[in-house]
Amino acid sequence: MTRFARRRLLGAALLWPACSLAQSCGPATPRQTEGPFFKPQSPERIALAEGKARTLLVSGRVLGPECKPVAHALLDFWHADEKGQYDNRGFRYRGHQFTDAEGRYRLETIVPAEYPGRARHIHVKVQRPGGRILTTQLYFPNNPGNRYDDIFRPELVLRMAARGEGVYDFVVGS
Ligand SMILES: [Fe+2]
Repeated sequence: MTRFARRRLLGAALLWPACSLAQSCGPATPRQTEGPFFKPQSPERIALAEGKARTLLVSGRVLGPECKPVAHALLDFWHADEKGQYDNRGFRYRGHQFTDAEGRYRLETIVPAEYPGRARHIHVKVQRPGGRILTTQLYFPNNPGNRYDDIFRPELVLRMAARGEGVYDFVVGS
């Protein structure tokens, strides 16, 4: 194989993931209310899990326009505890992190309990460097509450890759 041909092949291999990404990337992630329990200045950490509650790993990417991964995007997560309550004094089940060079994030936490009137959910704010803040919520598949919660959106449901492992790719605007 000539050097030129090898370079062309390598180029094709590099292009391929971008093509498949573009096909799997949908419209911008819908916005949702932040609700009454957001607290600024959460600690920077990916691991929120504690106690004996069922553990949950949420992972995925932050994608920009044209589905390009966004490096160093901010994700600030907060959710209810195993009893359906928020920690409004401290920072239990609250934490922020930044995507890596490939736009990936990873949150190690627990399955939040439901509380009256709401489907099971996780709150998050996502912001690309210098970009507008996307405030939204993630939901769980097959949660009975999804049918009764007025603000539930099917586009915001985690895809369960395995038991206790949810995947979600955020698509943020420019
Ligand atoms: Fe909430």
